[in-house]
Amino acid sequence: MKTIGVLDSGIGGLTTCCEILKLIPNINVIYYADNKNAPYGGKTNAEVSAFVDAAVRYLLGYNLAAVVLACNTATAVSVATLRASYGVPFIGIEPFVKGVKNDGDKTLYLATVLTKKLKNERGFICTDTACLAPLIEAFCNDCKMLERITSKTLSPHIGKLENVILGCTHYPFLTPYINKDFPNLTVFDGNAGVAKQTKRLVGAQPSARRGRIYFKFSGAKEYGKYSHAFRALTDIK
Ligand code: DGL
Repeated sequence: MKTIGVLDSGIGGLTTCCEILKLIPNINVIYYADNKNAPYGGKTNAEVSAFVDAAVRYLLGYNLAAVVLACNTATAVSVATLRASYGVPFIGIEPFVKGVKNDGDKTLYLATVLTKKLKNERGFICTDTACLAPLIEAFCNDCKMLERITSKTLSPHIGKLENVILGCTHYPFLTPYINKDFPNLTVFDGNAGVAKQTKRLVGAQPSARRGRIYFKFSGAKEYGKYSHAFRALTDIK
């Protein structure tokens, strides 16, 4: 059975992982959360680039078929350099702006400061809402809080908005609550594209056995929190 590495600053990349495992359930995943250095969003390019490089070096200690940067910020800063430096395929995630057909002023773009700076060519609405990644990280297993975060973020825009772009992998933790409480909004995230690309690169796997996910942390060992969130995400999807 093949193994892939998946990397994020924290829990957000699990939303990407779930999409990948829906398409290719029979691969193993080494999931690396760089929680010692999270959040990435407010850091400089040079800092994020150094963190991601160290995380990738750690992951490359395993025999991997590919490395998925399940972090929009890490992708925006580092994917080109990583592809030029290491002999393993890298799959990056980008805010799924291609899916949005209409004008920028009907679309709310939620992402880290760094991603918004590097990747907003189409002038979507970026409120001064700080990236909610740290909050989602803290409350990823608390449905009531996730629903409250969703409501606080979107309520001020209701009436004007048609689309929300989730340009940070932490945000799909809010998707069930957006769908429930704001059903007129269309939600875009890059996870399905990453899953397809991973399947294309790694190939359909012959084994009928499901793969396993192994959590690795640069900081505190948050196995319980991550396993719980992973199970909850797998049940929802
Ligand atoms: N999940 C990450 C992303 O997609 C970043 C969150 C953070 O560390 O600020 O950008």
